[in-house]
Parts: sequence; structure tokens; C-alpha cells
Amino acid sequence: MLTDAFGRKVDYLRLSITDRCNLRCVYCMPPEGIPLKPASEILSYDELLRIARVAASLGVRKVRVTGGEPLVRGGLVDFIRDLARIPGIEDLAMTTNGIGLAELAAPLKTAGLRRVNVSLDTIRRDRFAEITRCDRLPEVLAGIEGAIRAELSPVKINVVLLHGLLPGEVDDFLSMARERQVTVRFIERMPIGCAPSEGYVSADGIRDRILSLPGARPAVGGRPAASLDYDIPGFAGRVGLISPVSRKFCSDCNRLRVTSVGHLRNCLFGRETLDLRRLMRNGGDDEVVAAMIRQAVASKTEGHDLCGSGSVPSAAEPMSRVGG
Ligand code: 5AD
Ligand code: SF4
Repeated sequence: MLTDAFGRKVDYLRLSITDRCNLRCVYCMPPEGIPLKPASEILSYDELLRIARVAASLGVRKVRVTGGEPLVRGGLVDFIRDLARIPGIEDLAMTTNGIGLAELAAPLKTAGLRRVNVSLDTIRRDRFAEITRCDRLPEVLAGIEGAIRAELSPVKINVVLLHGLLPGEVDDFLSMARERQVTVRFIERMPIGCAPSEGYVSADGIRDRILSLPGARPAVGGRPAASLDYDIPGFAGRVGLISPVSRKFCSDCNRLRVTSVGHLRNCLFGRETLDLRRLMRNGGDDEVVAAMIRQAVASKTEGHDLCGSGSVPSAAEPMSRVGG
């Protein structure tokens, strides 16, 4: 088992498998996108599987595949099948923007993917086109339906709270959670990525809106999580709030991340980077890979300081490479 200096058990690994994306969300990328790394610098599936295997042998039980946009990488279904077969991995999830999910949900489910988070910040077509700079909302909505149909359960919808959110938009998502079996989670925007200091919206107003619904109450059970979920009578789905800025959850942090170029990161905001790719390509064996993973866990800091004023830490690498 991996335990850090603050007693936190680390059993969750997030793997960014590509820095590419078919959207251009304004808070993530400039219009022209972020300079892509050459394919040779991106970890191969074999390298990713090796990291996952070693991490599982050390106690990692949950793996999430992220990007960029993971669905744009070829060979994904086979990769997921190989990941799902690694002994010790009990939970396999993916974060995606949903484009292409309509077709891929069923094969991914068969391959062993358990669940998906779909990033979707608005369900109004014109706002979607503004935020992502692409008019592709129908494909995302079809992807969500495909995921529900394929029983990639629970399907979670990640809604980043953006400046310019229109009053009715929160209710759009509440209606979605009322009618469909999805967990809608409103996420405070973190000061990272493009124009980091602009447009922070606190989740407090949304909590008040949720609690104004008859019978709404905090969901019980599960581990203390980043998301505060609410059960609302008459809703097919659930609603949750993730507040990394106003209510940081570092004390429950159980994660490690591997970026698409093979850097091992122990905090989204951490400065330390351990180069797993170089280690592996220089012929390092599983024991040194394991040692680097232990080192990353040992040097996890107590938390970020996004709540304090003054300088805002920003990750040295873009979100599309690190994987959110
Ligand atoms: N703050 C909060 N969430 C973000 N994401 C991307 N950038 C930010 C940010 N600055 C989200 C995406 C996706 C997940 C990978 O991270 O919307 O849901
Ligand atoms: Fe793509 Fe996600 Fe960045 Fe949007 S936030 S551009 S979907 S990687």
C-alpha cells in the first residue's frame, strides 16, 4: 500500500494518454490549440500499461484515463482491455468530452471500462459553440445517451462554472439530472490554463439553489470525496458540487498523475516532476519505476494554496497534457 507523509492512502492513478483534443475550450487552450508534442514523446500504450501494472502492484486500485481527449487516440479499445486485465485494478474510468462516445461506449464497456465522466459546461448550443469554439453539442449529447445505454454507470457530467453562466443554465442541468440517470457535478474553475485569473464563479450560489429544491439533502455514504453530492426526491440522477477553490479537498487526496509525455505528478499544482518516460527509455526495470512512484507519494505536499491570496500557482504544463 502507498501512504504519504500525511497518512493519506494513495490508490488512484490518472493517466493522460494524449495531449490532443478535438475541442478548443476557451479556458483550456488558445484558438490555435497548444503546441502538440511529437508522437515519439507521448507514452506508448505499452509504457502506460507498464506504469499501471507497477502502480497496481504497489496498491493502486483505481485508474482514470484522461487526455487531452482520450477518444481521439487510435487503439483505445484494445488499450482499455489490457488495462482492465491488470490484477489489482478494481475501478477503471475515463474523462472525455463525449465526442465519439456514441459509437465507442458499447465497445469500451465490453473491453472493461466501468464508467465515464463527460465534460460539458452548457447544454445550449450557441454557448457550447462559444465555450468550445466548436459547434458540436449534438455529438456530446448523443455520447451521453450512448454511455447511459451502454451502462457505463454512473455517467457523470462535469460542468466547469464559467464566467458568463446564464441564470437558467444551472436549471438546465438540474432538469437533466431530474430526467436522466446522470450525476451532474458543478466544478469551480481552477486558476490554471488560459486566462487563469478571469471568471471565477463560486459553487455557493448553486448549493443554495439545490437546497431550495424540496427534500434535497446531502447524499450519505462513500469515502470523503472531492464532490459533495445531493440526493433530490424525484430525480433520476444526482447533483454534486466540486469546490477546489472555496473548499479544498487536499486532505482527502488519493491521487497520482502521469502526463501524456510521461511525467509523474503528485499534485495538479505541484512543481515537482519526475520523468518516468526517461527512466523507462533508459532501460530502467520495474523496481526503479516502483521506486519513482514511491518517491512521488513520499513527496506529496499537504495541499495547494489556491484559497490564499497573492501568487496563484499554475501548473508548469497545460491541462491538456496533464489531464485535469
Ligand atoms: N478548472 C476546473 N476544471 C477544469 N477542467 C479543465 N480546465 C479546468 C479548470 N481550469 C476540467 C475539464 C474536464 C476535466 C478534465 O477538467 O472540463 O472536465
Ligand atoms: Fe479539450 Fe478538455 Fe481542453 Fe476542452 S477542456 S479543449 S475538451 S482537453
